[in-house]
Amino acid sequence: MQIKVIGALTEGPEFAIGVRTSQGFQMPWQAAGVNLPTDFAWFKKKTKPEKEGEVCALAMGWNTWVSLNQRPLPGRRHYVITRTPSKWNHSAENMNAAFALPDLASVIDAAQMTEVDKLFVIGGPTLWLEAVPMADEVLLTIVHHHFEYDGETIYCKEILDEVTQLFPPPEIFPEVEKTSLGPIDLEFFVWKRGG
Ligand SMILES: NC(=O)c1ccc[n+]([C@@H]2O[C@H](COP(=O)([O-])OP(=O)(O)OC[C@H]3O[C@@H](n4cnc5c(N)ncnc54)[C@H](OP(=O)(O)O)[C@@H]3O)[C@@H](O)[C@H]2O)c1
Repeated sequence: MQIKVIGALTEGPEFAIGVRTSQGFQMPWQAAGVNLPTDFAWFKKKTKPEKEGEVCALAMGWNTWVSLNQRPLPGRRHYVITRTPSKWNHSAENMNAAFALPDLASVIDAAQMTEVDKLFVIGGPTLWLEAVPMADEVLLTIVHHHFEYDGETIYCKEILDEVTQLFPPPEIFPEVEKTSLGPIDLEFFVWKRGG
């Protein structure tokens, strides 16, 4: 099984990855009222099966699950990490697509036992930092914009230091996102174990 870390950070506020707002948990650009469809398409393409029969799974913390409105994204199994499994919503939609587990080690065991081909650790920061040392690949989007919003920012500066120390130099793919705030430069960084 391959383990991959995937996510996005903003240039401003520096290394922001999320925001706790009165609406709940959001990405910084969502909190500023902007969508980034190019980044979303990249996330979808990278985390969905590339060939028939391939099994892809997403591992995430509870608050990231809340930011998805506690509903699984299509075509991928979801492992949600929480120390309070009693708050799990046993909906029909979640029945076969999403599972609550107490830590990342249990997620890796469960994924290996059920023949997951690719496990993507999608956040938050604690899980990213735990997963990077065991990851085969790290995919981070840097969003070159300073977003303004109301809410409490969640940061993850450490991931860039960690990945730079542990991986060879990345490949970088630039893109420009057209948004209501004007064009925003994106850079898709891909670090691969062994280069
Ligand atoms: N920019 C991005 O790419 C990206 C990616 C993902 C998330 N986000 C954003 O980040 C924000 C959420 O971040 P967050 O810091 O609140 O993190 P989170 O990891 O989504 O949620 C934290 C909660 O998850 C559980 N948890 C996480 N790590 C755990 C561990 N190692 N062991 C046991 N339980 C663990 C705990 O839940 P319990 O309290 O239930 O035990 C903890 O309170 C949201 O705004 C989301 O939109 C952004």
